[in-house]
Amino acid sequence: MATTSEEATTSAPEAPAASAAQKPERPYSPGLEGVIAAETAVGFVDGQNGRLLYRGYPIGQLVEKGTYGRVAELLWTGEWRKSARLAPVPVPEPVMCALYELPSHTHPMDALRTAVSVWGAWRRPHWPPTVDQARELTAMAPSALAAFHRLRNGLEPVPPNPKLSLAGGFLQQLNGKDPDPAAARALDAYFIVGAEHGLNASTFTCRVIISTRSDLASAVCGAIGALKGPLHGGAPAEVVSQLHEIGSPDRAEKWVREAIARGDKIMGFGHRVYRAYDPRAAALRKVAEGMSDMAAWLDTAVKVEDVVLRVFGELKPDRVIKTNVEYYAAAVLQGVGLPVDLFPPTFALARMAGWSAHAIEQASADKLIRPDARYVGPAEMDVPTLGR
Ligand code: ACO
Repeated sequence: MATTSEEATTSAPEAPAASAAQKPERPYSPGLEGVIAAETAVGFVDGQNGRLLYRGYPIGQLVEKGTYGRVAELLWTGEWRKSARLAPVPVPEPVMCALYELPSHTHPMDALRTAVSVWGAWRRPHWPPTVDQARELTAMAPSALAAFHRLRNGLEPVPPNPKLSLAGGFLQQLNGKDPDPAAARALDAYFIVGAEHGLNASTFTCRVIISTRSDLASAVCGAIGALKGPLHGGAPAEVVSQLHEIGSPDRAEKWVREAIARGDKIMGFGHRVYRAYDPRAAALRKVAEGMSDMAAWLDTAVKVEDVVLRVFGELKPDRVIKTNVEYYAAAVLQGVGLPVDLFPPTFALARMAGWSAHAIEQASADKLIRPDARYVGPAEMDVPTLGR
């Protein structure tokens, strides 16, 4: 479209350095890095010392002594109870009807988000979110994801065996038979490790939505949307393809040096917060070591890890780059037989406990989250007269 001479004269003047309303200039932190936006008693990520605590308890001990049901209850209520249990529940009819309608090419993360959305439309959970709402949604989500996986493969969904754990019930509903107990236990450990991690992008999204007095289903839909992004929930799948590409440990050194020289990121290494070995990686490595089917894969993974850490130490001595959780998450998720495109939504199933715990906590603070932006657009000017 041609530009009129009048439009040509309307180029924007420079923005004022700081408007009267913005004085004095406040600090600006791109990506909110370093900004404390909430107080929480749910979890503590100690990046300097490689510690992760859920309500004060170290993640390694929770994996050893807990179950996901017990850990979810701890996150929601602060109580560590032997009787706490979370069994899989059948997919409610309105949610199942929606899953039947989805095309088979639907991304499983979109299918899970849709299931949570329909659950919200059906149950109409009120604000403030409650522990009962959190339990119901967390128990329903694995059944919905498993049902979608079967439907997209032309199989009928199967009802859950309520005697199984949530992770075991997820495997049973995926495969149509009760799982090997060791696989169910390994996935339960993964669920514990993935349950909570401070004010990461998806948890922050969840808290922002709840802070408007919106409902739990809307907040969790938003959180799933944030987790879908490859910078947040996509790394373990890439760890698998990376190890396939390397092939054998004796090719690792050349591969790693070339990748770093090209400026590529080595998946499963580095973290924004941790400057020590990620405690979740240590916990999941232990779990993977207990999985007999993973021995050969793990042998390669451990040898490649040693090479990567040595090469990082040599080429990037000023930056502490250690193994992160996704490296050994890939081993566990593969070991229990999950297809790679179910890795991100399985992470979402685990994080459901943490998201809802933060939602409950945010609602009790009842403070709208509403940061400011620094205005960098044009200064105030008159609207040009264009005529009618
Ligand atoms: N491979 C190669 N170089 C790396 C890696 C890596 N995995 N991680 C960090 N570095 C290098 C960067 O190249 C950069 O080097 P330079 O200063 O010489 O340019 C330096 O370390 C700092 O890296 P940043 O990306 O700026 O660090 P940041 O804290 O922003 O990034 C991140 C953290 C995104 C996790 C990064 O380490 C990464 O991309 N890792 C690979 C992907 C991955 O495994 N993600 C899962 C993280 S765990 C989770 O989200 C649950």
